[in-house]
Amino acid sequence: MARVFSGVKPTGHLTLGNYLGAMRKWAEVDQHRSDALFCVVDLHALTVDHDPARVRRLSRQAASLLLAAGLDPERCTVFVQSHVDEHARLSYLLECVATDGEMRRMIQYKEKAAREQTRGGSVRLSLLTYPVLMAADILAYGADEVPVGNDQTQHVELARDLAVRFNQRYGHTFVVPRATSPGVAARVMNLQDPASKMGKSDDVGPGIVYLLDDPDVVRKKVMRAVTDSGRGVVYDREARPGLANLLEILAACTGGEPVEMAGAYDSYGALKKDTAEAVVEALRPVRERHRELCADPGYVEGVLRAGADRARGMARPTVDAAYRAIGLLPPVAAAAADAVR
Ligand code: TYM
Repeated sequence: MARVFSGVKPTGHLTLGNYLGAMRKWAEVDQHRSDALFCVVDLHALTVDHDPARVRRLSRQAASLLLAAGLDPERCTVFVQSHVDEHARLSYLLECVATDGEMRRMIQYKEKAAREQTRGGSVRLSLLTYPVLMAADILAYGADEVPVGNDQTQHVELARDLAVRFNQRYGHTFVVPRATSPGVAARVMNLQDPASKMGKSDDVGPGIVYLLDDPDVVRKKVMRAVTDSGRGVVYDREARPGLANLLEILAACTGGEPVEMAGAYDSYGALKKDTAEAVVEALRPVRERHRELCADPGYVEGVLRAGADRARGMARPTVDAAYRAIGLLPPVAAAAADAVR
């Protein structure tokens, strides 16, 4: 059975992009068909300027939202990355396999480093090595599949390359993973700037729908979405990106195809109205369940504690095997046990 691993980074409030591009499929498909782990990857939130209290708050919120989106702790493992040391342990070994050039070619690194520099800030070394930690997240669990939105496929490819390289140099240790993505809405764009991804780390956003936005706020944001000056409602990502984004969101929320959706409308106004309602309806159960979970923080903590215990047990043998394969001496007690064997 395929093992699945994926994660979400607590750098901002989760968005419709996170939901349609990743979380919904995790809940509807991935957790049912496989031995799946879903992680709040809090160590990744430290790669950019951060406020410790905010990261803690957003980590709790992200965990509750994963459950609110439908992840069932009876079926899958939900946990927080920093609760399991194996991620950081393995990350260092993979830094000894990855190259500086490889890291500098990562699109997200180039974009985020440029943004930090234009703000006059400095770029943290961890921003450069971030994809190695992400590879460690995946490889520690022997994940075959990594369900992500399109923006993460380059990082998953790096994890593949590192797994293959490590296995060739030091003997077979890691499963070679592959990225999977939803057919529609694998890259939801900002409603005010359809050339940019709808990203949670962007400061504020009339173009960003947050999962916990009030229904009226969602409606307003969708109704004000930038559309294109062309005529008629057609699905064309290149020529009509604003319109295509709305059609994809509508299709993803209602289970249709963007091209068919386009055929059903002859005005932008009607399309926006239906899209707004479809988003409100798609998010309603998530908001409601989140409200219930907020009233029961002990439950969420219990889920995370049990999840970390389970995750640790799954990751440790692989990470220990990687330590031995790469040439590190086993600790004395383990060495004695090895000698007896
Ligand atoms: P993050 O936190 O940015 O996003 C979490 C998931 O949501 C998807 N996503 C989107 N999909 C479609 N349209 C959008 N606008 C959109 N925005 C976000 C992302 O593709 C992702 O699947 N590096 C990762 C977190 C991570 C991870 C991992 C993922 C760390 N380790 C190991 C998988 C496996 C990230 O920053 O995701």
